[in-house]
Amino acid sequence: MPLLILMAATQGTTQGKEGGDQNFDYMFKLLIIGNSSVGKTSFLFRYADDAFTSAFVSTVGIDFKVKTVYKNDKRIKLQIWDTAGQERYRTITTAYYRGAMGFILMYDITNEESFHCVQDWSTQIKTYSWDNAQVVLAGNKCDMEEERVVAADSGRQLAEQLGFEFFETSAKDNINVKQTFERLVDIICDRMSESLDTDPAVTTGTPSTKLTDSAPPLQQSACNC
Ligand code: GTP
Ligand code: MG
Repeated sequence: MPLLILMAATQGTTQGKEGGDQNFDYMFKLLIIGNSSVGKTSFLFRYADDAFTSAFVSTVGIDFKVKTVYKNDKRIKLQIWDTAGQERYRTITTAYYRGAMGFILMYDITNEESFHCVQDWSTQIKTYSWDNAQVVLAGNKCDMEEERVVAADSGRQLAEQLGFEFFETSAKDNINVKQTFERLVDIICDRMSESLDTDPAVTTGTPSTKLTDSAPPLQQSACNC
């Protein structure tokens, strides 16, 4: 529903822990979910800090990082929530699904069980989040080809079945990490502009363009977010 999308894509200025104190045009709340040890925290660290560690410190509850990206001349603040995969935190983590505009649903290509659980995670999204939340399926640890037990085609087929976009990724080797976030933001923006199509004052129908990490030059151009 368009109204919900507009409400979720917070516009304006935020103060405090959850968003910092900078100005932004839109704020998108994103969640990374999936079984424990698939690499959710590592994925977020790679994206936000360009860092990776092989030590495994299982997440307790939930944590988040903020990253700002630019799409056309709009500053989009991403509030990215990293959830604990362990079952015992499920009540806490599902409480954060509401209001999320996008999910990265992650499994580990070397762990069959994590792949089998994708369907359950998808059901959790349907149960606890808004209908229009967008989802990208990520098969992580694609650097570990020798230990692979989930074929790339199986991942692709499941994603197609569930109506999700799909990437194989590696937080370790920095493969498709940025692309996964960029695609998710693009889908959210496209969805928003579809919803706003009826209001020409808000959207201009400009084709979607690539996200960047740097501020745009000082010029006025239309954004379809
Ligand atoms: P929970 O917090 O328990 O839900 O786990 P998580 O999904 O956050 O997993 P985490 O990011 O902590 O990673 C688990 C282990 O996998 C760590 O030892 C990471 O170093 C390792 N790991 C994460 N991503 C990759 C990857 O892309 N390739 C390889 N080879 N190892 C990875
Ligand atoms: Mg974690």
